[in-house]
Amino acid sequence: MCGIVGYVGSKRVVPVIFEGLKRLEYRGYDSAGIVYLENEALVKFRCEGKLINLENHVGEAYLSSSCVGIGHTRWATHGAPTTDNAHPHSDCSGKLAIVHNGIIENYHSLREELRERGHKFTSETDTEVLAHLIEEYLEDDLVKAVRLALDRVEGSYALGVIWTEEPHTLIAARNHSPLVLGVHDEAGSFMASDIPALLPYTNRVVFLEDGELAVLTEKGHTLFSIATGEKKERGEVVIDWSASMAEKAGFRHFMLKEIFEQPQAIANTISGRVNLETGEVTLPEIGLDDQALGKIKRIFLVACGTSWHAALVAKYWIEKWARIPVEVDIASEYRYRTLIVDESVLTVAISQSGETADTLAGIRLAGKLGSRVVTICNVVGSTMTREADGTIYTHAGPEIGVASTKAFTAQLAALFLLALFLAEKKGTIDLEKRQELAKALVGIGPVVEKELPLIQEQIGTLIDSFYDCRDFLFIGRGMNFPIALEGALKLKEISYIHAEGYAAGELKHGPIALIDKEMPILAIVPRDGVYSKVISNVEEIKARQGRLVLLGSRGDTQLRTLTDDVIYLPEIHEEMNPILYTIPAQLLAYEIAARRGCDVDQPRNLAKSVTVE
Ligand code: M6R
Repeated sequence: MCGIVGYVGSKRVVPVIFEGLKRLEYRGYDSAGIVYLENEALVKFRCEGKLINLENHVGEAYLSSSCVGIGHTRWATHGAPTTDNAHPHSDCSGKLAIVHNGIIENYHSLREELRERGHKFTSETDTEVLAHLIEEYLEDDLVKAVRLALDRVEGSYALGVIWTEEPHTLIAARNHSPLVLGVHDEAGSFMASDIPALLPYTNRVVFLEDGELAVLTEKGHTLFSIATGEKKERGEVVIDWSASMAEKAGFRHFMLKEIFEQPQAIANTISGRVNLETGEVTLPEIGLDDQALGKIKRIFLVACGTSWHAALVAKYWIEKWARIPVEVDIASEYRYRTLIVDESVLTVAISQSGETADTLAGIRLAGKLGSRVVTICNVVGSTMTREADGTIYTHAGPEIGVASTKAFTAQLAALFLLALFLAEKKGTIDLEKRQELAKALVGIGPVVEKELPLIQEQIGTLIDSFYDCRDFLFIGRGMNFPIALEGALKLKEISYIHAEGYAAGELKHGPIALIDKEMPILAIVPRDGVYSKVISNVEEIKARQGRLVLLGSRGDTQLRTLTDDVIYLPEIHEEMNPILYTIPAQLLAYEIAARRGCDVDQPRNLAKSVTVE
């Protein structure tokens, strides 16, 4: 959480920092701040709330001719989201400033020690400790002081530091929090928590590793080990995202744009990986040859939030087609149970960002236990992709809305590819079935493309009746149970309506007590293998006067006898229903939240990339 940006070069720094922070605001928006060097002094602005407050606050300083500075957008951990706690933080002299993403775990003892040595603190944050600790070691060499300070620190950090006495230098350092450098031959050097912040200026990036520090100047950057001071070399990576991909392109919200980008995201994820003639899937990037595959007896899928829902769907696919037992773990729980994991287990971590702290900790543990680790990830060069043995990239493009949409359906496409790949290698499906399933996968993008406007129109007719409800239940069975969970998560996170997802058959074991004539229940009822079972569950709800919304197959007239509120979708290959039925759930959440006037792209208390445990 938190986004940091830094720049040193030939451009005016304030617009560069704002442009970067706007693209990182998804990481936190409790407060924001900027500091730059002007006339040998630091000029600092900080504000509570969103970046727009800061933009209004800086006024004419926006036009400062300064070319060196750092900025921050905060998701509060230590200390309330006040101006005093907003970054950048300074040392006692006011000559040094720092922005930080992460948590300094031993900040309390360091703070006491520094207080005793006369340092004066003005915030409740862990970050301010770093500013004073660097000051403590600072004589005439900023790099040395930062290294000595970081040597004392426990926890995670991505940080940027500037100092009036070295006005042409910006220091960047990382440990367990993401940080990427931007390279430009004429404009200078950039640093940011995530790639979209750099895209208006460059697509040439260098990923910092844990324990590394970079010295940035107008002429370029030099990497060092924090522990030894030894110089390091790292090649650039050219990113194939453009700045416009991270803009709204006329849509009211990023979330809506990203919902409509799903056909492309799915197509890009499948592209070049599946052969329709033979039904074969090629995934050389995961490095699973026949010998490695032969060893795999079980699969663990580890993820958080929406990515965990993708994992739940994948369990059905992998077990059904590849006949390999699958366990699905919420990453934040995974480490705290007795794990029976060894080299016979393949661990697959699913993450849009590739930076989620819990998932990252999970794959580190799995690796230590001897498991091979593969990630399914959307962000090139993210920490998980660098630590895993192999990565299946989803090519969904940058996802900016805090609520994950296109990343989810792209994950589903990637997981289906994985299931087919494993099935083929294990010889558990024949040619005909392979062809059938490959065709179904390749066909789902165009179906979503065609249906999106129709679904949006149908959802529009429901909003007046449901936008002001207090609670909402979502039910589904089999592969669509995780989609009920996902629908409920989408609704609660962006509209703040209390929503829960249940396996339809589980209702009668307790949740049915919630049903009365006020309670809306969305049921996913495609004509699939469990259709009649879900219909029975729906009848049970109707008998108790619940307010039903049904998502079902076009032409299914029975649904209209149960409620007027039916969203019809085409009948497609059953295996692809989780992808198709996600779309109305996303649009329902979106339209309700927009109607309630909620901040759809930046819901309260949330951050896109959860880099703290
Ligand atoms: O980047 P990741 O996929 O690892 O993120 C996992 C969750 O934090 C994320 O899916 C979260 O639940 C979203 N807000 C859901 O919309």
